[in-house]
Amino acid sequence: MRPFPRLLYLVVVCLSSVSSGFARRTSAYIRSEFPSVDIPVDNEVFAVPKDSNAPQQVHITQGDYDGKAVIVSWVTANDSRSSEVVYGTVQNKYDHSAKGRMTKYTLYKYESHYIHHCILNDLKFDTKYYYKIGSGASSREFWFHTPPEPNADASYKFGVIGDLGQTYNSLSTLKHYMLSGAETVLFVGDLSYADRYQYNDVGLRWDTWGRFIEQIAAYQPWIWSAGNHEIEYLPYMGEVLPFKQYLQRYPTPYMACKSNSPLWYAIRRASSHIIVLSSYSPFVKYTPQWIWLRDELKRVDREKTPWLIVLMHVPLYSSNEIHYMEGESMRAVFEEWFIQHRVDVVFAGHVHAYERSYRISNIHYNVTSGYSYPIPNNAAPIYITVGDGGNQEGLAGRFRDPQPDHSAFREASYGHSTMEIKNKTHAFYHWNRNDDGSKVETDSFVLYNQYWARNLRRRKLKNIKGTYTNFSD
Ligand SMILES: [Fe+2]
Repeated sequence: MRPFPRLLYLVVVCLSSVSSGFARRTSAYIRSEFPSVDIPVDNEVFAVPKDSNAPQQVHITQGDYDGKAVIVSWVTANDSRSSEVVYGTVQNKYDHSAKGRMTKYTLYKYESHYIHHCILNDLKFDTKYYYKIGSGASSREFWFHTPPEPNADASYKFGVIGDLGQTYNSLSTLKHYMLSGAETVLFVGDLSYADRYQYNDVGLRWDTWGRFIEQIAAYQPWIWSAGNHEIEYLPYMGEVLPFKQYLQRYPTPYMACKSNSPLWYAIRRASSHIIVLSSYSPFVKYTPQWIWLRDELKRVDREKTPWLIVLMHVPLYSSNEIHYMEGESMRAVFEEWFIQHRVDVVFAGHVHAYERSYRISNIHYNVTSGYSYPIPNNAAPIYITVGDGGNQEGLAGRFRDPQPDHSAFREASYGHSTMEIKNKTHAFYHWNRNDDGSKVETDSFVLYNQYWARNLRRRKLKNIKGTYTNFSD
């Protein structure tokens, strides 16, 4: 960096630190963790339902743009016939039904069971639904709650989980998440880690993972984004179609938002507009993902959905030694849009640790400008890495030293986050470290909405002026 910009940067950082009252912090906390090994396949957390033909691996996700539809997915071992879901708002009284579709695939010599996907449309907002899948004695019943109609004042609590896997640490994350009271999981990629296995076990470990998450995923939607462990480019097995198993098993409502790929899409839920990006699909200028995101950002209506949240797998800002700078190419393409459209927060995974940034940007950087260092920028999102679900690869325990100025808090532990939206201006954010037997909120702050909180004074004046104009008319 040239001397003047460096000096300018230091002044801006000092002023920013004084005004915010924050300081960088690297947590020294170390807890004894469970070994980073997958839970054995015969453990009860992967148990197959007693009736061998009963639906298993049940999970749901949002099925449309606004939350009036749900996609129900499940697997049956023998019954390929019924992809029907019966449902209603009263338990045991299923006065609606929907027919889905069945699919199956092979991966090397692994042959999947029958995979069913069924969309329930025209649901009422903010309503509890009971649903039943399977037939006769092997049928199973679950429930879910639809979100409120998208509106600026809706309160809603999201959870954020990433890089989950299927170890005892993963189980700890799930158990702690279940105590959080959150209503929807924003999942930031790397689901099963089945690709750490070989040959037929790559398929079998997707099955165990599906049974593992059912305890939550059958009852509340998981909003999926894909990570590198979903690519499964496995030429040694003759399997070269990227994302083959992920796409067969975990559908997304991509067509409702005019996306041409299930790997990138958007939904509106309660008071949030959530954009899901694919770190492992083309995103440079003029690619389908780039064009779609450009257009989707124009569709965001902060008057209706004040909170703008972006999910991706690879973090754009991270100070961990592991995967350092891997998000740089996407940052160079999309960061300017995030600032222009006042994104509130970007959640990512990939790095197996927790880290939160200040509001910073590096949009003035190019190969000749010399402005190569992120600077405080109130229009920028906060970047949060939550790749700490607990998979078999273990923690990313080596942070870069010294801690960069843009990094607010970092800790190499397992856990999950929650974002509790209270109204159009404020949300309570927590990162909850896994701990033995108790919930530990380790990093907490109030998130001010980038649109409503920042422009509140101007908005009030505008409303007053509007009222006056109407009155005078
Ligand atoms: Fe990853």
